[in-house]
Amino acid sequence: MEKRSIAIDGPSGAGKSTLARMTAKKYGLIYVDTGALYRSVGLYMLHHDVASKDEARIVKLLPKISIEMRYDEESLQHMFLNGADVTDKIRIPEASIYASDVSALKPVRAFLLSMQKEMAVKYDVIMDGRDIGTVVLPNAGLKIFLTAQPEIRARRRYKELLEKRIDTTYEDVLRDILYRDKNDSERSAAPLKAADDAILVDTTDIGLDECLQIICALAEERLGL
Ligand code: C5P
Repeated sequence: MEKRSIAIDGPSGAGKSTLARMTAKKYGLIYVDTGALYRSVGLYMLHHDVASKDEARIVKLLPKISIEMRYDEESLQHMFLNGADVTDKIRIPEASIYASDVSALKPVRAFLLSMQKEMAVKYDVIMDGRDIGTVVLPNAGLKIFLTAQPEIRARRRYKELLEKRIDTTYEDVLRDILYRDKNDSERSAAPLKAADDAILVDTTDIGLDECLQIICALAEERLGL
């Protein structure tokens, strides 16, 4: 039977991962966090003292990288970079910037594309990222573009980082979000943009529960979940 898929795209901090995780749990889907793949490549470059925009060196090092996604008994995604568990390390702010920079490079995107597509061939998935509805899963049964004003996204992300005990300030988080919004939308390779058939959900003024209800109603209508 053909696998079912939901694509959620949007800028950083719009609530994609929280909502995707909740939706996955409700319907028994596998949640694939594709940002974690770019973060893992970024972290590798950071650890090897490669400048985040040094395309020649980054491309040369790509064959040395092995990235694996593994799921625990609670269906949480763990990232393995050359065999080491980097699930927590990829969340540090430097890894966000590195992820955004390396993700602008076409060879990096090509390197990670088949892994993402394969997940949707094997499993019923809800996948979040920047180009899922446009590039990775153009035939997804439901595409959502989740957004919110940058200040709101920064506030939410700041709270999340504090909960994970990552040392940062609201100002730094906002700066990071604005940097990545610009980088991710202006790049030529698979830029952040809504697919023509995506449904736009602005979470600026609505809470998590209401958002989840919107997504679930759409998932039930479109995918018969
Ligand atoms: O989603 P997250 O914030 O973890 O993603 C980190 C970075 O990876 C983003 O800023 C974006 O540049 C990049 N990314 C991407 N395409 C995706 C997912 C993430 O370019 N599908």
